[in-house]
Amino acid sequence: MSENKLALSGKVAKAITPDMVGLFFEDINFAADGGLYAELIENRSFEAVKSKGENHNYVLKEDNLYAWSSTEDIEDNLEITFNQPVSEANPHYLRFTAQEPGQGFANKAYDGVSLKKGMTYRLSFYAREVNYPKGVIRAAVTKDGKTFASVDVAFRNATKRPAEWMDTIRVTCDTLEWNFYEATLTADADVSGGRFELHLTEAGSVEFDLISLIPSDAVAGVFRKDLFQALADLHPAFLRFPGGCIVEGTSIMRRYQWKKTVGPLVNRKINTSLWAVQGGNTIGQWEMQDCHYMQSYGIGFYEYFLLCELLSSEMRRCKPVPVLNIGVACQFRSYETVPVDSPEFQEYVQDALDLIEFANGPITSKWGKLRADMGHPEPFNMDMLAIGNEQWESGAVDLAPRYRAFEKAIHERYPEMKCLGTAGPFIQHPLHTAAWQFYHDEAKKNKDFAWAVDEHYYVAPQWLYDNVAMYDDYPRDIYVFSGEYAAHDANLSNSVEGAVAEAAMMTGMERNGDLVRLASYAPLFNRIGHSQWTPDLIWFDAEKVVLTPSWYVQKIFSDYAGTEALDLDGQEKALRESKLYVSAVKNGGKRILKIVNGADEEQTLSLADEAGAPLSTAAVLVTLAAASGEAKYVVATDAVNTVVGNKVLGPGIMSNLEVCLKRAPEDVRLKEDKTWISGSVEVPAKSVVVVVY
Ligand code: AHR
Repeated sequence: MSENKLALSGKVAKAITPDMVGLFFEDINFAADGGLYAELIENRSFEAVKSKGENHNYVLKEDNLYAWSSTEDIEDNLEITFNQPVSEANPHYLRFTAQEPGQGFANKAYDGVSLKKGMTYRLSFYAREVNYPKGVIRAAVTKDGKTFASVDVAFRNATKRPAEWMDTIRVTCDTLEWNFYEATLTADADVSGGRFELHLTEAGSVEFDLISLIPSDAVAGVFRKDLFQALADLHPAFLRFPGGCIVEGTSIMRRYQWKKTVGPLVNRKINTSLWAVQGGNTIGQWEMQDCHYMQSYGIGFYEYFLLCELLSSEMRRCKPVPVLNIGVACQFRSYETVPVDSPEFQEYVQDALDLIEFANGPITSKWGKLRADMGHPEPFNMDMLAIGNEQWESGAVDLAPRYRAFEKAIHERYPEMKCLGTAGPFIQHPLHTAAWQFYHDEAKKNKDFAWAVDEHYYVAPQWLYDNVAMYDDYPRDIYVFSGEYAAHDANLSNSVEGAVAEAAMMTGMERNGDLVRLASYAPLFNRIGHSQWTPDLIWFDAEKVVLTPSWYVQKIFSDYAGTEALDLDGQEKALRESKLYVSAVKNGGKRILKIVNGADEEQTLSLADEAGAPLSTAAVLVTLAAASGEAKYVVATDAVNTVVGNKVLGPGIMSNLEVCLKRAPEDVRLKEDKTWISGSVEVPAKSVVVVVY
């Protein structure tokens, strides 16, 4: 093998963005409910629906008591009713009847409640009396007959009885007024997999709705602390939200509507999740795991904007990038579209304009006032909007007139807003090229038509190596937003092999940082045992967070970004022959060289300074490699052999947890050493090395 060498130059090739690396958030794999949203109670508003079906053929069934049960296994003391609810947006609630003092009901709380000794948890619920003249509400977390936390909540009896009207017709319903209750549970000891319970200390009947339990350390009272930290540590430059296919929904009716996710929690209309029907939940089977996956919108658009602020760091601001539905249901799941010439379509366009007002408008405006009422009078300073998630011009979807209508309306009113287009789901497809051509053609007439175009690629590691240089040749009239990408190895696992290929690709993005302005790995989260898609950036369960090799790659490119790309004079092409991928940038007085070794053996890279002498300098050397010292060789396992596309398995074959175990993230080590470079660096097999000097 010939010598691998690189002559380093201080010559600036081009200005690049130091703010390329951001986050893609979608409520898939229990990323929001049961994930980043710190709520511990599952189906807290009794609105659960179970879903089954497959492409273009979905059916739903109400299952309002899902996740709830009687603590005494008594049938019929839990009933669902819907007369004069707390909110008509979520009309169902629980009527609980204790036939004897002390009876109660429990919530399964995803994989059970985990408490930490000494930690406090904020309990809240709505309740109203049916018939409960004396007694309190007792809340507890228990396991195997042992209580780990409990609190008695004084009950407020009804003051108003329902009016009787007319002589002949009595008002027969029992309902009285709702009261809101709050209390604190303190954990006496650690517990995993506990059960949340509410009991009536006397016989009687009480109605309950929106029963919530949130750890007091939740960031802003909303975000699970450890998962939030895993995001914050990446110093993201932007957050793309809320998806993903979820923006589109399995049908127009069940699409993501941002207006239904803001304002008081109780009024946020709970929706099914299109991800409830992923994972082998085919038409013949009702009781699939996670078929009750819903969207509570506890993290709604206000919280997403807030999250951006909270994720902003000294290193950089995290900018909001909302994605809008453009009048289409998910093209993989439905043929529904709203005709562009219909009045209904105008409502979609209006939603976009109203969103800008919600994010940025004065508090005297309708939507700016709502933002202020929710606690944020200052604008969120949104300057980007993605028009459509993954649409392109096809037999099923007419992207062009939709994009045009949105762009025109937005720019007429907000000329400074950056509109982001979409090039569809598959980068290797001719429709991808056609989509780009559409934007290029329009840009000739209107340079602001699309600030950037969002392209998605879930591809084999080898594809990334083969296409490392693809951005070298992209036209420079419109920026690139690599809005969803990931290496999919043979087992769809979070391997070092996949992550190193992503790093190689990112050297290409970084070298073209004048063009690739935004890039986000996807998907972001995976609740172990509840995933619909792997690989993902961050895995977690009720108690722990597992950072994947891909997470470390993102961190490296975020934390060691630069403002200028240094000239490599084409040398990167020769190095690719040895499976070495490089990029060199400058940030302030520092130069940063990133080297990715995609080969199976360690390689030496000789480095020369500008005078042609062996580089001799103090440096910080950051190395990311498999913790075992050798990246595993990824082969397809059963978990892959029995899937179709990216679907997990049917129930008889393998549980979601088993699938997750087979695809579990490989351990990596990120090492940082102060060292002296004397003319070369050793780059371990399948690793990423950063030299800061
Ligand atoms: O990231 C998972 C899915 O991949 C997204 O929802 C969608 O945009 C893409 O097809």
